[in-house]
Amino acid sequence: MTLGLFDDLPPAPQAPEWLEPGAVVLRGFALPLAADLLQAVAHIEAHAPFRHLVTPGGKRMSVAMTNCGPLGWISERSGYRYGPVDPETGKRWPRMPSLFQQLARDAAEAAGFAGFAPDACLVNRYAPGTRLSLHQDRDEGNYAHPIVSVSLGIPAVFLWGGAQRADKARRVPLLHGDVVVWGGPARLRFHGVLPLREAEHPLTGAHRINLTFRRAG
Ligand code: SIN
Ligand code: FE2
Repeated sequence: MTLGLFDDLPPAPQAPEWLEPGAVVLRGFALPLAADLLQAVAHIEAHAPFRHLVTPGGKRMSVAMTNCGPLGWISERSGYRYGPVDPETGKRWPRMPSLFQQLARDAAEAAGFAGFAPDACLVNRYAPGTRLSLHQDRDEGNYAHPIVSVSLGIPAVFLWGGAQRADKARRVPLLHGDVVVWGGPARLRFHGVLPLREAEHPLTGAHRINLTFRRAG
């Protein structure tokens, strides 16, 4: 039986799924903003195109990346770094939309980290087959701030590991609109993404877009 009375209401907020203290999955948290977020990504991409960076070890990353905000994350033969200028265009990274800042702040607060003000947003684009191997986010210089990660488009399986690379990683399915926040005692956990399976999403086609918000400076 359906209760017609409630048909027009937005879906009820889902309970936070804690991975461990300091790390939480907020299901559907970004869903109401998804279309606007993706429109903003199209604008960012027009000024700072997606590119496949090369790791310091000389490997081409399968994830395509760009950035917005005062600082952008860059991988080069000489190492990983944050910088204000896109090496590809010689110009500053596109500004971070206020919608992005507000979402990052709200998600961090829902995870217990009030007052998060990101100065960097890495935009990752995955196609079927794209993966991201286990790593720590440790180029930020100050680990007091959390990481906020927003999933859009086709599904992925997020790997949530431990303090050591060899620690067993838990598999966490991430869907369009899901947000993961990790900070505090969980800030330096290893994490990654399994190779994406073939899929289509009405808003992104055969792509997954991930926004990761950081405080890098
Ligand atoms: C990242 O670790 O930077 C991205 C994680 C993700 O794509 O979910
Ligand atoms: Fe990461």
